[in-house]
Amino acid sequence: MLILGIESSCDETAVAISENGTKILSSVVSTQIEEHKQYGGVVPEIASRRHCENILGVTEKALNDANLTLNDIDGIAVTYAPGLIGALLVGISFAKGLAMATDKPLIPVHHIAGHIATNYITTPNLKPPYLCLVVSGGHSHIVEVLSYTKFRVIGRTKDDAVGECFDKCARAMGFCYPGGVQVDRASKLGNPSAYALPKPKVTGSIYDFSFSGLKTAVINLIHNNNQKGIDTDFNNLSASLQKTISEIVTQKTILASKNLGYTKVAVAGGVSANSGVREHLKKACDDNNFEFYMPDLKWCGDNGAMIACQGYFNYMEGITADESLNGIATLSLEDLQH
Ligand code: KG4
Ligand code: ZN
Repeated sequence: MLILGIESSCDETAVAISENGTKILSSVVSTQIEEHKQYGGVVPEIASRRHCENILGVTEKALNDANLTLNDIDGIAVTYAPGLIGALLVGISFAKGLAMATDKPLIPVHHIAGHIATNYITTPNLKPPYLCLVVSGGHSHIVEVLSYTKFRVIGRTKDDAVGECFDKCARAMGFCYPGGVQVDRASKLGNPSAYALPKPKVTGSIYDFSFSGLKTAVINLIHNNNQKGIDTDFNNLSASLQKTISEIVTQKTILASKNLGYTKVAVAGGVSANSGVREHLKKACDDNNFEFYMPDLKWCGDNGAMIACQGYFNYMEGITADESLNGIATLSLEDLQH
């Protein structure tokens, strides 16, 4: 079963082809990061325009790299939610066109389900149920993965997502967008105990997160030091921030696993590339005798393979769409219509 997966929810135009879900035959990602960098973040209108320009070439390359033609493909999967609406619509319209022209099934995929699926690409014998921490630029969730296509979100951020916190703090330190990876790099040269940063108390579910207080603390620390003429050591601050974030997400994930009886724990999303988050989670899982799964670094950021993989599982469950498929900017994993 060959599924072509299309991802265009943010600033990456990406297409990949999966065979029986977890084997990736080709994966092409055209990133717009360089262009958005000058604005300090993604400009939605520019993102949509670049998707329009790139999507055909990226799709042709994915087919060529796999030595396949459209005739060989069994289904067209596409991200339909959540994301920038204009950007989503480019991928959806293109996918509909392909599906209708070739008379192949159209398969809708939720972006976060796609991130979770990167664990199946890396470890094909991982099977639900398990608990997954999803940490990306727009989302911070603790998710019960009940089956390949059913999810229960038990923890979510009350304000900023983890990636947003990394990126905004990075910006205050003078790192360019997206700064998460630069904080990770600077952390390796810094002392994680140099700055004491706050861990927020969150009202509501014990599994919920809050990162805006931590972000404000980092920004205030830099401003206060500037006003007093004190140099801030950005390597030390990066290391302290990364350690604090890693501890928060690890502690909540382990607490949820223990309370709910999960012994298999995974992580997914752009921030799952962070070395601190990976190390802290791995160690805590080892200490508790939990199995720990993380995606290969190349699958952490947005890509087409995650959509091609999850598209396969959706198709196996009979989840398809017709030409009325629309993009949805905000849609929780729990509110999937299937
Ligand atoms: O999943 P993703 O590619 O896009 C969304 O769906 O949001 O995540 C992008 C986020 C950005 O905030 C980026 O700074 C962050 O992932 N990120 C990292 C690292 N690599 C990417 N954050 C911390 N450390 C990293 N190594
Ligand atoms: Zn993403």
